Amino acid sequence: MRRITLLGTGLIGMFYTMALHGRRGRDRVGVAYSRSADRAKEFAAEWGIPRFSANMEEAIGDPNTDTVIVALPNHLHEAAVIAAAEAGKSVLCTKPLGRNAAEAQRMLAAVERAGVFHGYLEDLCYTPKTLHALESVRGGAVGKVLWVRSRETHSGPHSDWFWNKELSGGGAIIDLGCHCVEIARSFIGKEIRPIEVMCWGDTQVHPIDAEDSAVGLVKYENGAVGQFEVSWAFRGGMDLRDEVAGTDGTIWLNHWLRTGIEMFTAVGQSGYVAEKAESATGWLFPVGDEPGALGYVDMFADMFDAIEDRRAPRETFYDGYVVNAIVDAAYASMASRQWAPVELPIWRGATAATNVAAIRDYDAEHILIKEERMMDGSLKLIVRNKRTGEIGERRA
Ligand SMILES: NC(=O)c1ccc[n+]([C@@H]2O[C@H](COP(=O)([O-])OP(=O)(O)OC[C@H]3O[C@@H](n4cnc5c(N)ncnc54)[C@H](O)[C@@H]3O)[C@@H](O)[C@H]2O)c1
Repeated sequence: MRRITLLGTGLIGMFYTMALHGRRGRDRVGVAYSRSADRAKEFAAEWGIPRFSANMEEAIGDPNTDTVIVALPNHLHEAAVIAAAEAGKSVLCTKPLGRNAAEAQRMLAAVERAGVFHGYLEDLCYTPKTLHALESVRGGAVGKVLWVRSRETHSGPHSDWFWNKELSGGGAIIDLGCHCVEIARSFIGKEIRPIEVMCWGDTQVHPIDAEDSAVGLVKYENGAVGQFEVSWAFRGGMDLRDEVAGTDGTIWLNHWLRTGIEMFTAVGQSGYVAEKAESATGWLFPVGDEPGALGYVDMFADMFDAIEDRRAPRETFYDGYVVNAIVDAAYASMASRQWAPVELPIWRGATAATNVAAIRDYDAEHILIKEERMMDGSLKLIVRNKRTGEIGERRA
């Protein structure tokens, strides 16, 4: 059983507590910290949390807790993580780890120096659909992964600090792109080094200094590509979709706007339908179990099992640091309009990678380009002569 200090009582603090306390869970939040004592008290009462505090140091140092969860705005992650590490507690930090890779690297150094357990709370790598798809990919179902497309778009975040570039570290890329980048890394293989990024981003709708929409390509050392599409200007709810394209197969994941429940109501119900839903009447896509569908339940199970088993969880601070480095390169590319290198002074993955290109021989002289069963039942093959390069057809 983990006894937790929760720092932050906003949207994600609430989702985390729902996941931790749900289904008669053993793990409990023991202390809730909010900068406002009234809010901390209110949150504690709502979720049956025995203690609350408006003093972060006191909340972290509470002798009855062993784990600190950082659920604060991005500019507060570093100080909170360092304080928790120095207090010798296990530290779990929400995404993005830092506002940039330099902050993330300092946080990684702090937890490693203190020798404490660290987990990166990247929930979307833990949705039941994603875990299933990752198992299928590991089992070889799609062959070699060539291209992963990950999309997260909605109409914009719910609190002021997200919109302030100094506090959040950027716009839709740092907020949503961090999820997409780590989803793509997970499918491509975290041991494969990300090399460079090409990114377009712009402020299409909202009057802010950061980008509210962006599309980027992340190139990996083995030739695979991760594509992220993010927006704070998308209308119609929260669109969370991933696609995995491999040499032998394809996976499409739709996490939110087609949840399996499609309901029409002319009159509405309680008002709330699902996170970032834009309407409460008409055709709706409610969610049976929001914390479960968003990955929070499996994420905490992995984190706490890992603490007990004395192993690393699926997502560590090192992963958060790599994600920040890729996001930094996206911002550099957006500014320069060129491919930007991913700067990773600390790289712990493979030092060489086999290219994903899948060349198949047709016969001794020819390479197979493509085969297709035609309407008349024959098999048509497109082949290339290895010596001359000439492309021709065969029928079987
Ligand atoms: N899917 C996810 O994993 C996910 C989803 C949403 C948010 N997040 C992350 O969680 C963190 C918090 O986001 P949120 O949506 O809960 O934000 P929020 O605005 O809903 O809540 C933020 C909390 O921090 C407190 N806070 C704000 N400014 C503070 C300050 N200066 N000092 C102390 N406390 C302060 C607020 O009172 C509130 O309790 C962010 O890093 C965000 O990126 C992750």
